[in-house]
Amino acid sequence: MRLAVLKERRPDEARVAATPETVKKFLGLGLSVAIETGAGATSGILDSDYAAAGASIAPDAASLLAGAGIVLKVAPPLGTGEGAVDELALMPRGVLLIGALNAWGDPHRIETYASLGIDAAAMELLPRITRAQSMDVLSSQANLAGYRAVIESAVAYGRAFPMLMTAAGTVSAAKLFVLGAGVAGLQAIATARRLGAVVSATDVRAAAKEEIKSLGANFVGAEPEADAQTAGGYAKAMTPEFLAKQAEIVGAHLAKQDIAITTALTQGRAAPRLITAKMVEAMRPGSIIVDIAAEAGGNCELTRPGEEFVTANGVKILGWRNWPARLPAASSALYAKNLFTFLSSFWDKEAKAPVLKPDDEIIKGVMLTRAGLVVHPQFAPKPAQAA
Ligand code: NAI
Repeated sequence: MRLAVLKERRPDEARVAATPETVKKFLGLGLSVAIETGAGATSGILDSDYAAAGASIAPDAASLLAGAGIVLKVAPPLGTGEGAVDELALMPRGVLLIGALNAWGDPHRIETYASLGIDAAAMELLPRITRAQSMDVLSSQANLAGYRAVIESAVAYGRAFPMLMTAAGTVSAAKLFVLGAGVAGLQAIATARRLGAVVSATDVRAAAKEEIKSLGANFVGAEPEADAQTAGGYAKAMTPEFLAKQAEIVGAHLAKQDIAITTALTQGRAAPRLITAKMVEAMRPGSIIVDIAAEAGGNCELTRPGEEFVTANGVKILGWRNWPARLPAASSALYAKNLFTFLSSFWDKEAKAPVLKPDDEIIKGVMLTRAGLVVHPQFAPKPAQAA
């Protein structure tokens, strides 16, 4: 069976779905591996590195995809009218496509996978169970995004992070506030503390409050509600009463902060608005807001997804869309390992092919389509109600 790795063509996407390390492992499973030329360039991986690991290099998407049984991607493949190459149209019927397919953000595409006979596995839908931890692309990428957000904020900030006592005077420590203390937020807290900032954070989940404190940051916000978390570990959408209380506390705290890093998401919905335009107005000139949730609409009302800009009162807002792609060598390495772990966990050694049992919890969680049908419980057409 041939495993094919496409070059990522979407703007801002600098990652790649396989590395020379995972190529070797896939060969060990009995697959042949083909990589589109230039696929690793933005992650610092040359065609010759892939070739040395045993992959063949295809000169374009058409020759790469011809005869492929499995296709690995980072972002959803391009469809008709989305770019110079219609990657979906080039995929053979029956192919297994694995990637972060943005199912919630673009549910219509799922029908397209079905109609083209593509069996699509959306890795961002992986259930949050212990067995799936090492395949969890959201976790591996969010971790790096949280780190990078702090580094970007440090560069954008016109002062230092740690308190510095010099002969010429004292520079006070930066006050950094993290909104949303999941995987990205906790890494942001740890990174900012290492750089010497005074760190505080908020979240709606009780477990997150404990984690914030265990990392040495102060918890600020409304008292988390016991049932704020889904069985899968995600935050639920909060009640208007809770959000109003949280906004009051967060707004007062923000006005005294130098940097805010926002990471709050609720699965399948637009990012919750945690920082209003009024709150930004109350912040000091020179303050920084880094909105990791920009891709999902942003946690700050003023965020312009994909851009950075300075508000009239001098607050800089960084709203870039794809934070993991800002450290592509590291994020590709972890992402590629996640995909290998996924595929190898469902590998049939005799058949040298994956066996994706529909009743397996992980498979049920990620498979959008199968043999021309939309099969995912959250996206499949609902059976008509009996009258
Ligand atoms: P996420 O990316 O969906 O959200 C980021 C954070 O924003 C979360 O902590 C969430 O509680 C918070 N948030 C949502 N609405 C908010 C609001 N209105 N105000 C303030 N904060 C808000 O979540 P993420 O980072 O992907 O993971 C959340 C949790 O899931 C982790 O902390 C962990 O406990 C669990 N998890 C479990 C895994 C496993 O067992 N395989 C893997 C990854 C995470």
